[in-house]
Amino acid sequence: MTTNAAGSPLAPEWLQVPADLNALHTPMWAGDVARNDAGELAIDGIPVSELQRQFGTPLFVMSENDFRARARAFSDAFNDAFADICGGVDVYYAGKSFLCTSVVRWVEEEGLRLDTASGGELAVAARAGIPGADVALHGNNKSDGEIHRALDLQLGRIVVDSLAELERVAKIAEARGETARVMLRLTPGVHAHTHEFIATAHEDQKFGLSMAGDSTDQAGLSAAEEAVAAASGYPGIELLGLHCHIGSQIFEPDGFALAAEKLLDFLAAMQAKYSIVLPELDLGGGYGIAYTPVDTPRPPAEIAQAMAAVVRTKCAELGITAPRISIEPGRAIVGSTTFTLYEVGTLKTVRVDAPGDGNVTYPRRYVSVDGGMSDNARPVLYDADYSAILASRTSDAAPQLSRVVGKHCESGDIVVRDVYLPEDVAAGDLLAVPGTGAYCWALSSNYNYLARPGVVAVRDGSARLIVRGETEEDLLNRDMGV
Ligand code: LLP
Repeated sequence: MTTNAAGSPLAPEWLQVPADLNALHTPMWAGDVARNDAGELAIDGIPVSELQRQFGTPLFVMSENDFRARARAFSDAFNDAFADICGGVDVYYAGKSFLCTSVVRWVEEEGLRLDTASGGELAVAARAGIPGADVALHGNNKSDGEIHRALDLQLGRIVVDSLAELERVAKIAEARGETARVMLRLTPGVHAHTHEFIATAHEDQKFGLSMAGDSTDQAGLSAAEEAVAAASGYPGIELLGLHCHIGSQIFEPDGFALAAEKLLDFLAAMQAKYSIVLPELDLGGGYGIAYTPVDTPRPPAEIAQAMAAVVRTKCAELGITAPRISIEPGRAIVGSTTFTLYEVGTLKTVRVDAPGDGNVTYPRRYVSVDGGMSDNARPVLYDADYSAILASRTSDAAPQLSRVVGKHCESGDIVVRDVYLPEDVAAGDLLAVPGTGAYCWALSSNYNYLARPGVVAVRDGSARLIVRGETEEDLLNRDMGV
């Protein structure tokens, strides 16, 4: 994939000059994206110029088949790995990564469940018609309205985040003469990021019930233990089990494994001390994807087997029956299914001082596109790296270090910080940025009164809007003008 061609001294160390600027690095793309005979990028045979003609740019272009395949891959891998441990795994797609009613239906048709994090996400689930029993509700600050809505929809689980919320859910359910099915979100002190994880005794974050012994006023009792003990006293609560989520964009399974061990220790301790048997354990989401050629995510089967081995061993060691396991992948299902299609506008090259030597300068080319931080806030929010490719044609021109930027009134409005693109990229060309399925549309905004792009789903050679793009009319509709 890479050559020894001299790169720009302005490029970050990880960025290599591609051997072939026209080639797709497949881990970053949906399975049905390829160049056609004319050299144009096409998805399931539909060229990007046709998508632009029909739907405009910027545009989120999603492969429905790829989404379904990734959902199945996770489900199959975890079900296989855990079959002999707990009869299989319930996979909840994390809707916060990207949610609309079509996606809820795909999730349901592929046998997955749905994880929501607000009343709004519940509204999408309800509109799509997924049975409430297959839906979970998260949130560290659920409103009474959201709790009522969860009960109205007879949700399979409410993931309770604090002692105060446990009491509130209990009271609301009891007043309705109902029982809420509850998981307790615990903070095991394991934080993972890409390749490393850290483990701490105390948590300094807004989510979850602490497992540290000194986290409540009662000597030696953690908030987590207090919640387990309290839950059994509420007639409005059916305590299903425990939950944790240790981070996002994680490649190595070690952090998940350590969190699983800590929660199983705790589960066994609760069983011994209170004779409370908790039948479920949710290990959250967070599985990483490839945004650039240097990202190397592991296949779902590898992660699933590593986690299963730990759960199997730990349960045997503790002498407990393994709880039913669930997971909540979002990014790993939807992230790589989608690319964003942009049209190139203004180009400009600046001279930049060489790092460490102000006497030498090198060129950096700015390639402006017709979207930006309003359709992908991740580079600004998290310093996230992306990649881009010339999509409307191939080119034999030399690679040039480029920075793809948006059209917003902010100098930080960067879409792809560093990428080699052909020297002859020009206004009117189309660029495609892969890996934009998760947390891009979901985090989009109307900054500078830009209309949010639509989302097109491609399946079996045809493309349809699953979320229409906003119009200027949409933007003006909420301005009361008084
Ligand atoms: N479960 C819980 C409780 C979560 O909080 C999250 C993500 C997930 C599951 C799904 O995680 P995933 O598999 O998608 O990594 N906006 C950030 C990511 C925020 C993740 C929030 N929670 C980003 O764009 O990187």
